Amino acid sequence: MKIELAALGIGDGIWEVVATTRSREGVFNAAPIGLKCIGRDLSVSLFHPSKTLKNTLETGRIGVNILHDPLVFVEAATGDLDTSYFTKFENFPVIRDAEVWIIFEAELLEKGDAYRFDLSPLASKRFFNVPHPVNRGFNAVIEALILATRYLVVAESERKDLLSDIEHYERIVRKCGGDRDKEAMRTLRKHLKTLQS
Ligand SMILES: Cc1cc2nc3c(=O)[nH]c(=O)nc-3n(C[C@H](O)[C@H](O)[C@H](O)COP(=O)(O)O)c2cc1C
Repeated sequence: MKIELAALGIGDGIWEVVATTRSREGVFNAAPIGLKCIGRDLSVSLFHPSKTLKNTLETGRIGVNILHDPLVFVEAATGDLDTSYFTKFENFPVIRDAEVWIIFEAELLEKGDAYRFDLSPLASKRFFNVPHPVNRGFNAVIEALILATRYLVVAESERKDLLSDIEHYERIVRKCGGDRDKEAMRTLRKHLKTLQS
């Protein structure tokens, strides 16, 4: 099966999604993960230990759910997501109110600090015309921008900390952002230089 990634709002970069998996015994699980996209290649890196890793190894399947409910992200990351959030497609869990879900076959490529899986789509459903997968790069640009607008306002003694916080966000943009995020960050960096000179 082929999916049109661009139509799902997925370009190059790392997208924060909620992964759904199923254990061998049939217990559903959800957890936030980063979906990495380079060209047409999609992959995830799963750290040990997690139920997501265990289940993916057991079934060779992983669901990717694009959604914007912060509570789902927090509950899925910090404990067991309530069963009312799940629905099933051919007995595999997906998130009921996701904008998009895609069920992938996951092939283990590398076993290091993280287990890296290559993903091939098996089934997908789209419920919104304009999906917005979460990207830390975009969020980081916004956070850095907020800090940059404070640069001239804060006391001089606070500027060093502010710049170091911006650098933190800059690293996230380099790691996860798409081309527009990187360009935006470069523009912001130039602006900051003019403020500093
Ligand atoms: C935004 C976000 C992205 C994450 N990305 C990953 C990831 O790519 N790989 C991973 O192993 N853990 C990732 N995590 C951490 C897992 O969600 C976390 O370890 C979770 O508790 C695992 O839950 P589980 O045991 O139910 O699978 C991420 C967490 C957040 C909040």
